[in-house]
Amino acid sequence: MSKDDILKHLMRSKTGFVSGGKLAVQFGISRTAVWKQIKGLEADGYTIEAIPSKGYRLIELPDSIVPAYVVRGLKTRIIGRDLRLLKEVVSTNTLGMDLARNSAPDGTVIVAEKQSGGKGRLGRTWISPKGNIHLSVILRPLIPARIAPLITLMGAVAVAAAIRKLLGLDAGIKWPNDIIISGKKAGGLLTEMSAEADRVHHVVLGIGLDVNMDPMVLPSDVRARSTTLAKEAGRRIDRSLLVREIILELDRRYQLFLADRAGVLTAWEGLNITLGKQVAVSGAGESLTGVAQGIDDEGRLIIRLQDGSLRAVSAGDVTILKTQIRNSKS
Ligand code: BTN
Repeated sequence: MSKDDILKHLMRSKTGFVSGGKLAVQFGISRTAVWKQIKGLEADGYTIEAIPSKGYRLIELPDSIVPAYVVRGLKTRIIGRDLRLLKEVVSTNTLGMDLARNSAPDGTVIVAEKQSGGKGRLGRTWISPKGNIHLSVILRPLIPARIAPLITLMGAVAVAAAIRKLLGLDAGIKWPNDIIISGKKAGGLLTEMSAEADRVHHVVLGIGLDVNMDPMVLPSDVRARSTTLAKEAGRRIDRSLLVREIILELDRRYQLFLADRAGVLTAWEGLNITLGKQVAVSGAGESLTGVAQGIDDEGRLIIRLQDGSLRAVSAGDVTILKTQIRNSKS
């Protein structure tokens, strides 16, 4: 049992309070040992209230992403063994591509508190204030370029799984890589790569999550479609712990992907909110409407159009129009 185990309980408590007695029983230690761990957390910058009849409650988190908390207990095989935490960059993806060209190792992670030129999908800007997570990973998989979109799907699964595990929120994925909670976008992924047709040189998987930011920094149309993890959880989120959970999930799922590509599709389907729905796809040169039937083995979205024909879409924005039973002929 570590400080992190206690911290996870404090962060996940519905009432805010966690009884010291219950923690002691759960971890098989004394109440005094629990109290010592609480004191350790306070020394690390957490403010914790103690009320004898109720227990402990987390009041304040350290303000920034703390490298020591990200790496504490982190035993990964590939991802995050080289971790660079920066105050501000133009874009962690752009820096990642530069570092990859200069031989940065497989699994290098770059995290920035702020980005001055954050990039979103389809050439958009990604607003990147302090309080959010901006993270890119350099990967060097031995795969042909046509398989690379599966890496984005793998990344989206890892991020949704980390949010579910650490925060207990019902995070899903809208094709191809939007992280959705309560029907609103909480984050997205942008993959860039250098490749020849039959061989990927390197991929940079970029993850942007709206965590603790003030939503008022977003333009009103974007704000209407967006949410933050803090809003959904009803409290400020410890970004160090979330970054660590994302790295752990990425490490596990990237190794699974290298061993069994099809497994990524199954995991993605389990978290998706797109399939079986009536959708409109736009932004990739044409606009289509139809029922999202599935994804193929290259991660393309298969849509059944109104005339019954099937189309595979590899890029674009999906709007979910209404719920439809999967594989329905109507
Ligand atoms: C999207 O449009 O949904 C994808 C957004 C991806 C944003 C992340 S933030 C970290 C990385 N660096 C960037 O410049 N973009 C990605």
